[in-house]
Amino acid sequence: MSAPVRHFLDLWKLDGSDLRAILEDAKRRKAARLGWPKGRPDADAVAEGRVLAMIFEKNSTRTRFSFDAAMRQLGGDVIISNAVDMQLGRGEPIEDTARVLSRMVDAVMIRANNHQDVERLALSSTIPVINGLSDRSHPCQILADLLTIEEHRGPVAGKTLAYVGDGNNVCASFIHAAPKLGFRLNIASPAIYHPDLHDLARAAQEQGMVHAGDDPREAVQGADVVITDTWVSMGDTDHDERLDALEPYQVDEQLMDLAKGDAVFLHCLPAHRGEEVTDEVIDGPKSLIWDEAENRLHAQKSILAWCFGAI
Ligand code: CP
Ligand code: NVA
Repeated sequence: MSAPVRHFLDLWKLDGSDLRAILEDAKRRKAARLGWPKGRPDADAVAEGRVLAMIFEKNSTRTRFSFDAAMRQLGGDVIISNAVDMQLGRGEPIEDTARVLSRMVDAVMIRANNHQDVERLALSSTIPVINGLSDRSHPCQILADLLTIEEHRGPVAGKTLAYVGDGNNVCASFIHAAPKLGFRLNIASPAIYHPDLHDLARAAQEQGMVHAGDDPREAVQGADVVITDTWVSMGDTDHDERLDALEPYQVDEQLMDLAKGDAVFLHCLPAHRGEEVTDEVIDGPKSLIWDEAENRLHAQKSILAWCFGAI
């Protein structure tokens, strides 16, 4: 019997031991190529001879460039397309797209409007499918964030992370990760933009230490890490309502001062300075956003290595 295809769709679907192995592989790979030119392949080039297809239904800078750079560093290649340029954009079923790509490439990364399409793509693929962000989750981003936290503050297990703002896709993947890796997650969001209740229920069932409320000051109290994200995600149409409801959730220096003295700040980017975060915080000494962005590359190399069965 052949081994099951290793899709990377959502962190709650993976074993904690696999997530830990991916993080440790990322640390090792990053250290091993310190100071190398960015285009030089890793010594073990685990994706040599392999091609990753990338499909984008939404805009992207970090995900697009980091997956492309990741495949080059792993010795492989990429084919990138916006969905509108594909027959997918004219209504070809995603199942048929999956069957065709499975004959031509070795893995697919998709950034999709609807999470269900990521799941449908995976169901009809005989090759690994990676969720490069959907309306529901952003698992690749959260592995890069956890890598960044561990680089700067050591093991994430036992730490307190505070997520302040919109209970969106980024927030969801932190909820998915918390029970797997043993960190406490305090969420503060306004009631109308609260995190997904199924995600919270699953985390509770898995004995996750996830607390969701609406008070940002309470959430950041004693936190090791403070995280926020845009108030208006791609696909959101209620721009003005969001800005009004989320205004009390801006991460500023006063809020950061309630966290631990050595607390760090994360934001997946793109950021809207003056909305979810002030200039002083995002460009200040506690902010790790540039390491966090770079770590998309390192974390994803190890996600790809895991999908290819090299971890
Ligand atoms: N953080 C993130 O996913 O960035 P992009 O939208 O630029 O890919
Ligand atoms: N929550 C944001 C993340 C962008 C990387 C969005 O979905 O647009």
